[in-house]
Amino acid sequence: MNRINSAAWAALEAHRSEIASTQLRELFAKDPARADSLALAFEGIHFDFSKQRVIPKTIGLLADLAREAGLAEWTGRMFGGERINASEERSVLHVALRQATGPFPSNDFDVMPEVLETRRRMAEFAERLRSGQCLGHKGAPIRNVVNIGIGGSDLGPKMLCHALRSIAHPTLGVHFVSNLDSAQLAPLLQTLDPRTTLFIVVSKTFTTQETMFNALSARAWLAANLGDELDTANHFVAVTAKPERAVSFGIGAGSVFPIWDWVGGRYSLWSAVGLALMIAIGPHAFGELLAGAQRMDEHFRSAPFEKNLPVVMAMLGIWNTNFLGAATNAVLPYNESLQYLPSYLQQLEMESNGKSVGRDGLPLSVQACPVVWGELGNNGQHAFFQLLHQGGRLVPCDFIAAARSDFPLGDHQAALLANCFAQSAALAFGKTADEARQQMIEEGLAAAKIDELLPHKVFAGNQPSSTLMLARLDAQTLGALIALYEHKVFVQGVVWGINSFDQWGVELGKAVANRILPAIKDASLAKNFDASTQRLIAFVREHMV
Ligand code: F6P
Repeated sequence: MNRINSAAWAALEAHRSEIASTQLRELFAKDPARADSLALAFEGIHFDFSKQRVIPKTIGLLADLAREAGLAEWTGRMFGGERINASEERSVLHVALRQATGPFPSNDFDVMPEVLETRRRMAEFAERLRSGQCLGHKGAPIRNVVNIGIGGSDLGPKMLCHALRSIAHPTLGVHFVSNLDSAQLAPLLQTLDPRTTLFIVVSKTFTTQETMFNALSARAWLAANLGDELDTANHFVAVTAKPERAVSFGIGAGSVFPIWDWVGGRYSLWSAVGLALMIAIGPHAFGELLAGAQRMDEHFRSAPFEKNLPVVMAMLGIWNTNFLGAATNAVLPYNESLQYLPSYLQQLEMESNGKSVGRDGLPLSVQACPVVWGELGNNGQHAFFQLLHQGGRLVPCDFIAAARSDFPLGDHQAALLANCFAQSAALAFGKTADEARQQMIEEGLAAAKIDELLPHKVFAGNQPSSTLMLARLDAQTLGALIALYEHKVFVQGVVWGINSFDQWGVELGKAVANRILPAIKDASLAKNFDASTQRLIAFVREHMV
């Protein structure tokens, strides 16, 4: 895919030469209205991108690039149910999961009957469980739910369970286990009563090694501790696109919730993959989450590109990556409840667009997805922000905060938000040598000391960021926020010419791990591997027991 020779790309290259040397300080001084002109609003979301290294003209040129890439056509193809995930010959219809009615995407190919029926079954099950009517072995009500899954079968529901914990069921425990390391499951099991614990095995394929190990260990724990016959019927449900595999595992066919091949794992939290989340927050709030996402879908489909949140956000990412040369993008939530958002977005963005070959099978002519990383912003300030301020690297940042606290306590929220705004301002505007010198003079430092310290006290600034301010962290706003990022990823994939919905790059490691496992158990097989792997296996065999 060669976007680089296009007219829109060339126009952006020329534009970069015009504005690249202008600092954010100057841009703000020249245009006091930038905070209005370079911001968008969507219901409870205010998206401020005035601290990006752009001017209004940049947005128009970026929109031209999106047009030239055929974004409108690709969006129509996705919403129309075409098999745009060509390498897997699948439609991409996670947007169907937030529709309230059908037919969708069309009369001929209507997925809504099964979507709505599954949503109804989920709600019925969640209500029964939440009201203590879901009974475990020997009639004790289920009190703890353990979601066993990994990647898209874990990160989304876990992230949102934490984000919405202020409205979670007060007494039900909802836990997430993903890691093959038994250090996650084993200590959790010690805190649980097998008679009152339900496991939800979530796996689209029902073959994922981590999930199968954890599910088998959970089943063994039940068998060992129920002191009776193994009771999978009351203690296991499954969410999968391969129901026959769940049934072979021992889960009753009536306890299997379907997902479909037209939902990618990392886009699946809106489906039965979100069952644990629905149990935690209730079907009503889950419905609000879907409604928020659906409102964002409508906005994405209908708003002009220059006023379209996902499009503008995506194109700013393209600008930073391909025109300014940024290699990473930091996600910095100033809200403890968004703790897991960075990991969720890592999968969403990097598993979707972390590719260097286009849809056409040809190498991309430009770099695609940046490395997405992040941490709660306030904690990060006292850890890695030093590099953001003075490390000399270009690191675009997404600051995300909510105006209202779900757990108010004194002045914490105002102080937290002051820190959030201070960081984006400090990153954008920095501190000049003159300002640093003046400050030290006012502090009464000796001239020699000022000269010595001055290089350390200068902040280059000009570090671009966007701030996503949410009115509050409720289900509807979160639904819109997550759909915003999903569509951002889609738009970027279209511009880069990528199929954002396959993930062949995860396969190699899985296959090699399956070959290495027997060699860890049987030393004679280790010779089949490279010298480094052999040495590591030998070390493990020496120290494992
Ligand atoms: O290995 C990557 C991956 O396939 C992700 O795309 C997916 O979300 C995750 O593993 C879990 O897959 P499954 O739901 O099939 O267990």
